[in-house]
Amino acid sequence: NPELIKKLESTIENIPDFPKPGIQFKDITPIFLNPKLYEEVIEDLANFSRGKIDAVCGIESRGYLFGIAIAVALEVPFILIRKKGKLPPPFVGQKYDLEYGSAEIEMRTGQLQPGERVLIHDDLLATGGTTEAAAKLVEKQGGKVTQFSFLIGLKDLCGTDRLKQFDAEIHQILEY
Ligand code: PRP
Ligand code: MG
Repeated sequence: NPELIKKLESTIENIPDFPKPGIQFKDITPIFLNPKLYEEVIEDLANFSRGKIDAVCGIESRGYLFGIAIAVALEVPFILIRKKGKLPPPFVGQKYDLEYGSAEIEMRTGQLQPGERVLIHDDLLATGGTTEAAAKLVEKQGGKVTQFSFLIGLKDLCGTDRLKQFDAEIHQILEY
């Protein structure tokens, strides 16, 4: 949707050298100042997944900003994937590598039913490390990752390469 892409490009702010020198930070917060634009984003993301999923998994924290609205629009459950230490048991965890060191995300067990078709949603696909770990968490519980969606994909970091193993559709509204 070229109209939506244009509006988002003029709304998302590029902040150079944040949080580190050399990084171009994409600030999505201005989208939330414009409820009509937010609705259009949700419509685009919901259209991609309509009829194709049984649940949405959103990744803390910016994956919640659009993820819940997608789930509500499609009338399917929303399941939170959280950073380590935030969820009460029972939960399953998945470690993943960062540029320096490692991180872990967790998900409550019993919220996703085996065999369910899952959309994993996040605001941004960078290296793909976070999303890959989220997909592994879903698979650990017998879910089938059938779709990934993002507002933004950073082409140079080749995040989609890490998602190929899941044989799922990928939608990125904007690519930089
Ligand atoms: C950012 C972004 C994605 C992730 C992408 O989240 O929102 O979740 O990094 O990076 P990757 O593709 O290289 O794994 P961040 O960890 O900064 O936290 P936040 O969403 O809580 O702001
Ligand atoms: Mg995030």
